[in-house]
Amino acid sequence: MAINKYPIGFFDSGVGGTSIWKEVISLLPNEDSIYLSDSKNAPYGEKSKNEIIDLCIKNTDFLLKQNCKLIVVACNTATTNAIDFLRERYSIPFIGIEPAIKPAALTTKTNTIGILATKGTLNSSLFEKTSSSFRKDIYIEEIIGKGLVELIENGKLYSKEMTSLLKSYLHPLLEKNIDFLVLGCTHYPYLIPQIREIIGGKINIIDSGEAVAKQTKAILNKFYLLNSKENIAKHTLYINKEKEVLEQLIAEKENIKIIRKKF
Ligand code: SIN
Repeated sequence: MAINKYPIGFFDSGVGGTSIWKEVISLLPNEDSIYLSDSKNAPYGEKSKNEIIDLCIKNTDFLLKQNCKLIVVACNTATTNAIDFLRERYSIPFIGIEPAIKPAALTTKTNTIGILATKGTLNSSLFEKTSSSFRKDIYIEEIIGKGLVELIENGKLYSKEMTSLLKSYLHPLLEKNIDFLVLGCTHYPYLIPQIREIIGGKINIIDSGEAVAKQTKAILNKFYLLNSKENIAKHTLYINKEKEVLEQLIAEKENIKIIRKKF
């Protein structure tokens, strides 16, 4: 089979990367996809760099066995800690997710933006490198969203625990006069309605989904890897824990299958 007919692979520490997956498959409706939700090992954000790299190798090997032609690392923590390593080790293209600091930094009027991300992302050298160029002009208020991924993975998107955790992270940010809130974890777009309730309508919330979808399309195009317009896309999502939470975020349809599998 010609390589362009192979699927796009995605992996994340859990179900959150589906926020990216949705953007990509909506921009590229003729592409087949395979999504790997490593929920058994979530969260990655509290793990060491070496542990994260080992998990990324395992996830990549799984996707390569299924002939993926390109892999979207649909996890900020995995990207910031392991993408350089993956690009060195494997020959297929990788698309990574970095917090959308740049558009916020270039547009802020209060010269102060907030970023909510995991410890693993905020402490990574890649994040330090990308954010430091903006720090001479603006303030970047960093907040570690400890516990948010776990609640999402446990199906507690709309819960008292979630509301009180979000309030404890967002209220101090509101005192800093931010006009942008960057979501630096692919799980967090699922929290936008709850975040809006707390911060009101004036602060812009941005995530990386749209930019990643455009980048994926550009790279597939560059390497002549786009599938044909006649292809009717099929999507398979694998998860190594119970399927319920993933099923709540993604409705199974004729062309979308959710499979629980050990990996
Ligand atoms: C995590 O697993 O801790 C979060 C995933 C992410 O950073 O997108």
